[in-house]
Amino acid sequence: ANVSSASIIIVGASGDLAKKKIFPALFALYYENCLPKQFTVYGYARSKMTDSELRDMVSRTLSCRIDKREDCSEKMNEFLGRCFYHSGQYDSEEDFSNLDRKLKLQEGGEACNRLFYLSIPPNIFIDAVRCATLSASSSRGWTRVIVEKPFGRDTESSAALTDALKQYLEENQIFRIDHYLGKELVENLSVLRFSNLIFEPLWSRQHISNVQLIFSENFGTEGRGGYFDSYGIIRDIMQNHLLQILAIFAMETPVSLNAEDIRNEKVKVLRSIKPIHLDNVVTGQYNSQTKGDITFPGYTDDKTVAEGSLTPTFAATVLFIDNARWDGVPFLMKAGKALDNRRTEIRVQFRNVPGNLYKGNFTSDAEESNNELVIRVQPDESIYLKINNKVPGLGMDLDQSNLNLRYASRYSNEVPDAYERLLLDAMEGERRLFIRSDELDAAWAIFTPLLRELEEKNITPEGYPFGSQGPISAQHLASRYNVRWGDLN
Ligand code: BG6
Repeated sequence: ANVSSASIIIVGASGDLAKKKIFPALFALYYENCLPKQFTVYGYARSKMTDSELRDMVSRTLSCRIDKREDCSEKMNEFLGRCFYHSGQYDSEEDFSNLDRKLKLQEGGEACNRLFYLSIPPNIFIDAVRCATLSASSSRGWTRVIVEKPFGRDTESSAALTDALKQYLEENQIFRIDHYLGKELVENLSVLRFSNLIFEPLWSRQHISNVQLIFSENFGTEGRGGYFDSYGIIRDIMQNHLLQILAIFAMETPVSLNAEDIRNEKVKVLRSIKPIHLDNVVTGQYNSQTKGDITFPGYTDDKTVAEGSLTPTFAATVLFIDNARWDGVPFLMKAGKALDNRRTEIRVQFRNVPGNLYKGNFTSDAEESNNELVIRVQPDESIYLKINNKVPGLGMDLDQSNLNLRYASRYSNEVPDAYERLLLDAMEGERRLFIRSDELDAAWAIFTPLLRELEEKNITPEGYPFGSQGPISAQHLASRYNVRWGDLN
């Protein structure tokens, strides 16, 4: 890191995200020598815990992901030695100022940078920011705050949150995280577009017939039902993760790689997307399903989910970008839990070849096959292009083959976890991969009318069995635009 010291305070340290992602990512950074020379990690939460109990908890989550280098356990112990715990209420100025005293003591009067990671529910968010920044304002060095979604539930609540945050922080201190932006293949998306000659000229309505953004998980809410039930899949995945990918996919070339230049382009393209309405949406909710001896629970079987809940666990929709590049091109989005596989991908389907000489020569049933570029964000990160090729032999049969860049075969480097990149960037003050408030507004403007309609009209989601491909209506929705979901072929 380009800073010499930092205290990283994880507010909500006993939560799932802290255990699964934040502590392990910090350790990975430490292991790679990417943390400042002087650093401490403080877990902050309400429960009583000693430093050594925190270290026990954290140590269970750490692994040396790269290779099992010999110094791994030594490194782990060094890292754990820099982890501490402070118990406090999220809305207590006193508890936070006690933490501040401890930090100052450790910092020994040196300039100290503070990075707060707020991994707590939105209703206690503002109080925590108020208390955390109060004491920090007296410290020398910077104070930055990483905030996790949900950033509100619609345009109004998100704007209220932004306003409230403004009382305590400057926009440049706020790092709104969308971990999908830290994923390797999402980072690579703009490299693919802007540093290869062959893609960008095709990247428009002239050559692309439709674009698909697909997110599926093969597990249900699994204990997160309480949170999920009040948000649903549209707010959990589409309005943020998939829309962010879309923005980078579809934006114009930024002036430079500078954070503001990139985010200006993202805002522009987001503002060109028309708000979505109910007639272009399919929602679904998974039901229980028995396979052999195992019964997979339905969404409403989760004890933390409200009885009779109408919250969608699946949604499919079609968006249009109202600009010269994309006019008329459907962008299809699909996101669901408890489906038949776990996968996130972008599928770019190209138009027919005009006057194709080889119509009818395909070995498949189709008269002709179109090119398709698939960017598999996860798992098994890869980029492949489906091309038409002559099957070797004396005849003239064509089939589709893949030009395939599979990360696992091409690179021996491990793909880092998204949180590693994002934590490092936040520490270095790099904002490129964080969401600016006007981006957030633009994103909510697209989904708010739909979310409102769904709730006002009490729309019942279509049932689908756990482990299936989701509601059949999602296929009908695509057919309305003469599109087939690429992942179902
Ligand atoms: C989170 C959602 O933002 O992303 C979860 O709240 C979802 O519901 C998760 O499971 C998926 O992230 P990843 O990195 O595992 O694909």
